[in-house]
Amino acid sequence: MNIRKAVIPVAGWGTRSLPATKNIPKEMLPIYNKPVVQYIVEEALSSGIEDIVFISNRDKKVVEDHFDYNSQLEAVLERAGKEDMLKCVRDVAEMVNIISVRQKRALGLGHAVLCAKDVVRYDDAFAVMLGDDLMFGMNPGLNQLMEIAKSERKSVVGVVEVPQEEVKNYGIVTGTEQAPGVFKVKTLVEKPDINKAPSRLAIIGRYILTPNIFDCLAKLSPGSGGEIQLTDALQVLAEQSGLLAVKLNGKRFDAGNWAEYLTANIYFGMQDPALRDELIQRLKPLLNVSK
Ligand code: G1P
Repeated sequence: MNIRKAVIPVAGWGTRSLPATKNIPKEMLPIYNKPVVQYIVEEALSSGIEDIVFISNRDKKVVEDHFDYNSQLEAVLERAGKEDMLKCVRDVAEMVNIISVRQKRALGLGHAVLCAKDVVRYDDAFAVMLGDDLMFGMNPGLNQLMEIAKSERKSVVGVVEVPQEEVKNYGIVTGTEQAPGVFKVKTLVEKPDINKAPSRLAIIGRYILTPNIFDCLAKLSPGSGGEIQLTDALQVLAEQSGLLAVKLNGKRFDAGNWAEYLTANIYFGMQDPALRDELIQRLKPLLNVSK
């Protein structure tokens, strides 16, 4: 099973991050020195993905531009002899091939994925990565799904166990555990009431999908929130050809949640040896830590 493309929907409003996202796409908010979307693309690349398919709209051009050359900026840096910065901005431009698809109307995540149909329908399978979920660790989130999808030749979703009070924010799955951390999915429900959730296994934004998802999506009526929901199409797919859920290891940040977004900034700042010590010194009094 060849999985070469990752679809990244970027046409959402980012209302959770207002007012910061009034005129800046949420995907471009920085975490330390890189925009959120660059972390997602880097995870895709380190999992073996070759092409990124942005599902975009008229306001998100800047997301694609981030992965392109900026000749004026490069000329300025070149003249100033700022070789390190020049390399840094060129590396991002050379990082990956970008394909852009317009989502002309915001009808939901399922609709966004359906927009990618003409680009990925002849592939064995493709990835979907949601920009709010940042995954880090030894084995990046997507890579764990790729391994299972290839060995089982099935669609796979990434899940984590969330506290009961958070189930209402996620697609929730139930299934039988066929190997440690790998579930054969039986039911999926998008954003259930806290008291009606059938489990605490929440879908986070990593999917490997086979192209038969498009038939499932095309037949859907709007679901939760009046939107075409990917989760509803996955229920049909699970019944037709089987679906696996894999518990993802590693660290995860929800970039649309301010506490997690700010923690992610500190986490990545701390990974930079040039910043670490000063950051700790400055944080100590703020955190009221005595030593
Ligand atoms: C989407 C999906 C949901 C999933 C979540 C993960 O919801 O519809 O199933 O659990 O992403 O972040 P959203 O957060 O876009 O409302």
